[in-house]
Amino acid sequence: MIGLHMDHVIHAYEDDPPVVRDVSFDVKPGELVCLLGPSGCGKTTLLRLAAGLEIVQQGQISIGDKTVGLGETGHHMPPEVRGVGLMFQDYALFPHLTILENVTFGLTDSNGARYAWARDSLSRIGLGGTINVYPHTLSGGQQQRVALLRALATEPRVLLLDEPFSGMDVTLRANVREQTLTILKETGVATLMVTHDPEEAMFMADRILVMQGGRIIQAGTPQETYFHPANPFVAALFGPINELSGTVQDKAVKTPLGDFETPAMADGTEARIFIRPEGLKMEYSGEPLPDDAGEGYTARVVSARMLGRSSHLRLSFAADAYGTEIDIQARIPGAFLPASGSTITVWVDPNQVFVFPV
Ligand SMILES: Nc1ncnc2c1ncn2[C@@H]1O[C@H](COP(=O)(O)OP(=O)(O)O)[C@@H](O)[C@H]1O
Ligand SMILES: [Mg+2]
Repeated sequence: MIGLHMDHVIHAYEDDPPVVRDVSFDVKPGELVCLLGPSGCGKTTLLRLAAGLEIVQQGQISIGDKTVGLGETGHHMPPEVRGVGLMFQDYALFPHLTILENVTFGLTDSNGARYAWARDSLSRIGLGGTINVYPHTLSGGQQQRVALLRALATEPRVLLLDEPFSGMDVTLRANVREQTLTILKETGVATLMVTHDPEEAMFMADRILVMQGGRIIQAGTPQETYFHPANPFVAALFGPINELSGTVQDKAVKTPLGDFETPAMADGTEARIFIRPEGLKMEYSGEPLPDDAGEGYTARVVSARMLGRSSHLRLSFAADAYGTEIDIQARIPGAFLPASGSTITVWVDPNQVFVFPV
């Protein structure tokens, strides 16, 4: 059973080069898939194609068992009969309609049961007392949840969300996305959500589709994309990352922070080595050290800054092979603020190291 299916979709605006380049994926009922990528990579265009707001030029889009767009024939099913729910960035509620009228806006008389669903859902998310008030009396987070119910009221097979939390502050965002996830998992709708925030994608998604320049360059679970990035772009997508260079010798690259195995790379290959700041461990970090941690590597503390939930350290490693010092950033949970100029012993979690050929 398929919720949403895209097959070799290509899309260009007018005579410009394509902004969606041969994209294929599906979203199963009950699954939440996130499109993650930088601004301009084609995420919103993909949602608009799925919604029917853009006509498919090449490739095929299906929803359920129906082809809703087919480039070769020009077949195009209009948005209102596709069975999609939409919530775009500026999800404004209708100001002159009550909360209940907003949620039930798209329903016809034949949807009697859905009016009951609307009242019931509003109660369950703590908004039962607001059904007869107007949107301006609700907070931003409450309005967002009402907009989500409005998108779900017609029982869409596919829900399309474009950066739905972008207007919210950090704390509100965290609450609202958790509640959104609960609501979506209850409905079992196939959801395609766009975000440029990797943490949000990891929190929400069953699967992440990483986009770059109109293509999906990696598809996988949050764990797969975070721990097994397919290339440097994906490795760097989840926040600042340290980069070193080296040459493969005896199936490994040597660095001042240890030797990292490269079983798939031929000796002599020039390599880029990426180490996540959270991959550096020190005795303070409270996690058990791996058995093969050895004696660790000595670093000089250049600076230590408190970020709240974690501390940011800038470390310098003496690097004989490089003839120069290597500057590395580390992120340690909690408050760990060693004095500048002091020396500490550091280990690297090999799961947080990624080596790619240049
Ligand atoms: N209506 C349009 N006409 C022309 N170019 C557009 C239009 N909409 C988007 N684009 C261009 O297409 C590219 C992808 O845009 P978009 O799908 O909005 O990306 P994202 O949502 O990932 O930021 C961008 O370069 C953007 O400038
Ligand atoms: Mg966009």
